Amino acid sequence: MSAADAVTDSLHRMRAEFGDLPGGRPADYIPQLGLADPEAFGLALVSMDGHGYSAGEADVPFTIQSVSKPFIYALALSVLGLDEVSRWVGAEPSGDAFNAISLEPGTGRPANAMVNAGAIVTTALIPDTPGEPAFERILRCLGRFAGRELDVDEEVFTSESMTGDRNRALAYLIRATGTMPVDPVLAVDRYFRQCAVRVTALDLATMAATLAYGGLNPVTRDQVVSPEVAARVLAVMSTCGMYDGSGEWLLRIGLPAKSGVSGGLIAVGPARFGLATYSPPLDTAGNSVRGQAALRALSERYGLHLM
Ligand code: DON
Repeated sequence: MSAADAVTDSLHRMRAEFGDLPGGRPADYIPQLGLADPEAFGLALVSMDGHGYSAGEADVPFTIQSVSKPFIYALALSVLGLDEVSRWVGAEPSGDAFNAISLEPGTGRPANAMVNAGAIVTTALIPDTPGEPAFERILRCLGRFAGRELDVDEEVFTSESMTGDRNRALAYLIRATGTMPVDPVLAVDRYFRQCAVRVTALDLATMAATLAYGGLNPVTRDQVVSPEVAARVLAVMSTCGMYDGSGEWLLRIGLPAKSGVSGGLIAVGPARFGLATYSPPLDTAGNSVRGQAALRALSERYGLHLM
């Protein structure tokens, strides 16, 4: 079997092995996400030579949700630099749920850019330019990471806008501590739109591969962010990407990762690959049950643990 066939074969095997794994439920606090097919299970890997491998529902579109956070953190770092971004958002694991009230004692900053509070601030930090409103910049950035033009799922956006009071409250709390750069309503609207950007598992694998390749998209050869920015984003993903499960994840799987409530999950093998899974049923921490199981098995079987 060729090396390429072996990769595809192992993705198919993961799908067969974990496709019936019970447990978890699709998120429904954003009502539209509750309509997702719980049986959909897609896996994809993009290598540093730009090859894409996939199994199952790797072409099924879903909204990116929190998997957008590391990429917008990368955009903020590129536009403003680490010191300026760090004035607004920290880099410590919060040890809390993704939607926790995360305000560091003393500075008032959210703990990190992977929890909602920190992501709302990160998104708010992206300035409009004369030619391009901030959200268009965000959308174009996500598209460069994915290697194709992306769009917004308006139904999911509206669904979250109508029910997202907790995020709105977080944005107001952050303004009260003086670490919200723009109007909270505007910040949250932009953040909900960012979360509703539509991707596939193959898109997410390409995005993860771009971080793995020092910010260079291996498919389009577009240098999306600098190697320094990509390295910093991977550092924060390692310590904070799986929320309160980040320590256990690093211990067992040993790869920088990021999850989202629509069921997407990425893992990055620096200088080697970007991996992504899509499976909507989530555990209580908000991480995909089947996605985590498949990535853990891949890491164990192929010795992917970085440490
Ligand atoms: O802000 C929210 O609640 C959602 N738009 C995104 C949260 C999310 O994906 C958390 N991930 N597991």
